[in-house]
Amino acid sequence: MAAKRTSLHGEWSSRWAFILAATGSAVGLGNIWRFPFIAGENGGGAFVLLYLLCVLVVGVPILMAEILLGRRGRRSPLNAMRALAADGGHARAWQAVGWMGMVAGFVILSYYSVIAGWTLAYGLRAACGVFEGVQSQDTARIFADFTSDPEKLLAWHTIFMAMNIVVVSRGVRSGLERAVRYLMPALFLLLILLAGYAMSTEKFDEGIAYLFVPHMDRFTGDFGSVFLNALGQAFFSLSLGMGAMMVYGSYLPERASIPACALSVAFADTLVAVLAGIAIFPVIFSYGMQPSGGAGLIFISLPIAFGQMPGGEVLGTLFFLLLMFAAWTSSISLLEPAVSWLVENVGMSRIRAAASAGAAAWLLGLLTVMSFSHWAFSFRFAGVQKNRGFFDLFDVVAANFLLPAGGVLIALFAAWLMPARITREELNLDRVGYAMWRIATRYLAPIGVLVIMLHGTGLI
Ligand code: TRP
Repeated sequence: MAAKRTSLHGEWSSRWAFILAATGSAVGLGNIWRFPFIAGENGGGAFVLLYLLCVLVVGVPILMAEILLGRRGRRSPLNAMRALAADGGHARAWQAVGWMGMVAGFVILSYYSVIAGWTLAYGLRAACGVFEGVQSQDTARIFADFTSDPEKLLAWHTIFMAMNIVVVSRGVRSGLERAVRYLMPALFLLLILLAGYAMSTEKFDEGIAYLFVPHMDRFTGDFGSVFLNALGQAFFSLSLGMGAMMVYGSYLPERASIPACALSVAFADTLVAVLAGIAIFPVIFSYGMQPSGGAGLIFISLPIAFGQMPGGEVLGTLFFLLLMFAAWTSSISLLEPAVSWLVENVGMSRIRAAASAGAAAWLLGLLTVMSFSHWAFSFRFAGVQKNRGFFDLFDVVAANFLLPAGGVLIALFAAWLMPARITREELNLDRVGYAMWRIATRYLAPIGVLVIMLHGTGLI
């Protein structure tokens, strides 16, 4: 068994720095943009309940496993998996987890950057007073006009990806540590303010009931498909299953408690998603919109709120800017696994590695840019009609299949193949806590994910 390793790329300055960075990765468009629209497409309450269940039973234990493998491996996910497998005399094939993760990261980053571009564009619009006094028809039209113009989407996508490359090329520490520290709490406060505004709308109760009361008969798909979408959302929102948390864990100092870190990240992430739901659904119902409005949901609902409230111009601008920052701190973690691997194995400088990996994701993003206009095609997935071509396809495949599959492999490796002596030492839990983690990662999570996947796709 090899001795403990250190990372070539440095370490976080403290446990706090890790929690901030990992929370920065977890909290992003997934919470504020994706959670409400997926919840709306899947009928609300029951979906939310299943989502919370997935976070708790599958998400948190796998999050701990992923951080653990990262800290033990102390390298890019691909090399960490290879090294850990070699330590225990297991098959080299385990490095496939690293490959899968890089592919998932590229796919997600490609469309994530396009949506992050929308937040930039909307911040500018809010600042220009475009949303003053708008009604739901207006915001729907503004959104449709904007997204059907590939040149605009391309411009913002390019700007965002460039920002991403700049930060990743500067390395883990001087990256966005500071931004997370101040901007995340600011975003959180603004969300509370928006939830307060939602309270003043006519149909606050209806919005809240939609979000929290599980009506089984309101499912848009069948139970299995709603469950699969909830599972995918849990993985997406927690940044799980593709090595992002593993690579962040590889910079985690030895003495930091992995369970404490994992719990605080999951808690903050869930809180932000729920708050976003509270802020959005009452507005949707009060202004006669459909919760199943798809990827544009927050872009057609929130501008109405900003248009009505006093100081909405400033608050709207601030909100979209902060959301852009949240997306920024998330997207760097989508790029980092590939970049650290390029630095380790191909011998590139960080700058070149970030530029090449970012350029590749940018290129793939062109398919998403076109998905909202010229190249749109429709398909049905898990009971939900999808009309946005490659964008929807990438999103569904990555969130509902690649991430959960990666997460299960991570759980299996950590719980069955890593010696208990090591996992116990890394997690440093009491007997009961450790037993719970082991049951979750050995049985509950792998079996659960498998059943949900097969059932959700109609195979069983
Ligand atoms: N979790 C982020 C969000 O909610 C997105 C994200 C960042 C991500 N890194 C990831 C998703 C890795 C899956 C895997 O916006």
